[in-house]
Amino acid sequence: MKILAIETSCDETAIAILEIKKTGSKTGFRILSNIVSSQMKLHAKWGGVVPSLAKREHIKNLPIVLKKALKEADLLKPNVNLIAVTNGPGLEPALWTGINFAKELAEKWGKPLIGVNHLEGHLFSVFLKENREFQISNFQFPIIALLVSGGHTQLVLVKDLLKYKILGETRDDAAGEAFDKVARMLNLGYPGGPAIAKTAFQYKVFARPEVLRRQKIELPRPMINSKDYDFSFSGLKTAVLYKVKELEKSDASSFRLHVPEICAEFQQAVIDVLISKTLRAAKEYKTKTIILAGGVAANKELRSQMKKTVQKSINASCFMLPASKYTGDNAAMIALAAYFRYKKMPVKKRAIKAQGNLKI
Ligand code: KG4
Ligand code: ZN
Repeated sequence: MKILAIETSCDETAIAILEIKKTGSKTGFRILSNIVSSQMKLHAKWGGVVPSLAKREHIKNLPIVLKKALKEADLLKPNVNLIAVTNGPGLEPALWTGINFAKELAEKWGKPLIGVNHLEGHLFSVFLKENREFQISNFQFPIIALLVSGGHTQLVLVKDLLKYKILGETRDDAAGEAFDKVARMLNLGYPGGPAIAKTAFQYKVFARPEVLRRQKIELPRPMINSKDYDFSFSGLKTAVLYKVKELEKSDASSFRLHVPEICAEFQQAVIDVLISKTLRAAKEYKTKTIILAGGVAANKELRSQMKKTVQKSINASCFMLPASKYTGDNAAMIALAAYFRYKKMPVKKRAIKAQGNLKI
């Protein structure tokens, strides 16, 4: 079967077509097309995503992205079997554009339509690798999944296929949001995650040893020792703001010189908290499989430090994460999640609504 998926929950207009083939007991997947049209440059001017602009751009981009997706998949006729669309969580005006477009297509082509949870999409993204063809490997439940994006930071216990329990989530800013806000404070532009990661990398690699030894910026690791699995990144962001003010006051001219050190310490503070809580959850729930997904999972330091810690601390562990090109929002992950949802419960009606706060 072929699934065409549409994703418009934030600032990417994305459409992908996924083919699923069964041979014997094996199921093979192939991404026939995966088009992502980013509005990043437009929103960068405003320092963050503007919902009304996102809506306008999605409406403009959707027909173009659809054309490209069908062409890349070499499907002149829309011979797909199912249409899937993200119905939450996300920005409601943006979600509605995708849903309305999907409903029209489903009507026109006479195909069933299914709504998909964006976070469930990110979870399934761990199966998406560089290669367009892939199979789902065997893994053991329960799984601990850390979902870190611009809108969410959640630790999820995956008890079984499509069965979740949220163990903890952020009480204020999401990790990606904190990256974006701190980058804005430091005038590094939007989106903040890649900018901070790049500056922190330069600091770690190029700073002279005596500079590294003299490191004087220390930031808190909020809630790292709290007994629950919740997170809080707003205090960390404020700590950066105070540090910036303090440095500007004492030595305004050399403040820019401290920016790389602030980035490295801020990034490490976020990583320390994320890894510590994920590992504690993995131990408590005796899981050997850990998933890292969402936009922030593009962070190379987070990827490598988490991998190392998991291998060291949990015996025979399995660490799953998406290829970097699938960490951000895309529709291939929505198509894959749709396949598993549809298998469990084939849809009959088209009453899909945008739900900004939809839970996994
Ligand atoms: O999943 P995503 O594309 O969109 C949402 O669902 O929110 O995540 C976007 C977030 C942004 O906050 C962005 O700054 C962050 O992911 N991000 C990163 C990196 N690349 C993107 N954060 C840290 N390091 C990165 N390399
Ligand atoms: Zn996302």
